[in-house]
Amino acid sequence: MSKVIKVLKPGVGTGRRGGSFNRGRALVAGGAGFLGSHLCERLLRDGYEVIAVDNFHTGKRYNLNVLQRDPGFLCIEHDIIDPLPRDLPVDEIYNLACPASPPHYQADPIHTFKTSVLGSMNLLELARRHNAKIFQASTSEVYGDPLVHPQPEGYFGNVNTHGPRSCYDEGKRSAETLFFDYSRTYGIDVRVARIFNTYGRRMQPDDGRVVSNFIVQALRGEDLTVYGSGLQTRSFCYADDLIQGFIRLMNAPNAPAHPVNLGNPVEFTVMELARLVIDYTNSRSRIVHRPLPVDDPRQRKPDISFARQNLGWEPQVSLSQGLAHTVEYFDALLYGSRPVKEAAMS
Ligand SMILES: NC(=O)c1ccc[n+]([C@@H]2O[C@H](COP(=O)([O-])OP(=O)(O)OC[C@H]3O[C@@H](n4cnc5c(N)ncnc54)[C@H](O)[C@@H]3O)[C@@H](O)[C@H]2O)c1
Repeated sequence: MSKVIKVLKPGVGTGRRGGSFNRGRALVAGGAGFLGSHLCERLLRDGYEVIAVDNFHTGKRYNLNVLQRDPGFLCIEHDIIDPLPRDLPVDEIYNLACPASPPHYQADPIHTFKTSVLGSMNLLELARRHNAKIFQASTSEVYGDPLVHPQPEGYFGNVNTHGPRSCYDEGKRSAETLFFDYSRTYGIDVRVARIFNTYGRRMQPDDGRVVSNFIVQALRGEDLTVYGSGLQTRSFCYADDLIQGFIRLMNAPNAPAHPVNLGNPVEFTVMELARLVIDYTNSRSRIVHRPLPVDDPRQRKPDISFARQNLGWEPQVSLSQGLAHTVEYFDALLYGSRPVKEAAMS
């Protein structure tokens, strides 16, 4: 049953592809989240009318502050596990709705799984009804603890089906299945991105992701918590680069017949990241080690050959540039403006 709880700004836009919104109407599920709010901002700038749909589980109303001044923006508070209003004509749908950090998605694992499966079906049905193109934010977690390195899209992964991370990993894998089955069955234009670790402005200080954890701990002068030896690797993509990848994938003339890796292929150990953060915050924090969580992947690095060759996309922002911006953001969020190390980019 449809359950529109609250419309923050009713009556935006009357027609599709009309007036100043010449690119049409885009719906962003998860639009109040870290990545979703950046995507809404980008789509508005590109000339879309934008409808954010969010249950504010992990998303924040203040992420939408700037957007709400835009006449082309509307937000609907709604849980996507319930069907969306039928009379919501849209041209493009981006599905980013899902808690993304382990403490958040493990807090209510059954709801997380429903979000990926029922939520995706509801959005796919909306796409089918309105003949809209639809994008799914999948994840590198579909590779689990990978036995192939770096991970190309053709690798099927090494995923635990019943561990504490499975609600997220298996939910996202099932969503990929649904997207391609809807495409084969109903001819819907689907685009599926497998996103690798992304960081930047508007991450939550308490979201438990490694970049935000380290920055917040360093700014507070607390010990940086490294799980395990810290020799496990990750690849960190700056949010602006990733959003550019979303736009390229969504606008590619031909829909790829498979998911596409989007991430930064430059690999760092978690210890290297911790030392960089201490350096960028001029912090006196020390590094302490804690036991590795269950099923924590030992290595992660995307093979982005497909995106490079077919979308002309690759990340442009280095980790040190992106960290400088992110440290600045958290510093302002936690303490108000306080001088931080000079950003390496303007
Ligand atoms: N940030 C990353 O590094 C990363 C990596 C891989 C995949 N992803 C995927 O990208 C998407 C966005 O991630 P993020 O980092 O912005 O996370 P986020 O938690 O900041 O954003 C998710 C948004 O979805 C909303 N949401 C969650 N469940 C919902 C539901 N049932 N109905 C409606 N709204 C709901 C939340 O309130 C939030 O605003 C997620 O689908 C995530 O799985 C992110």
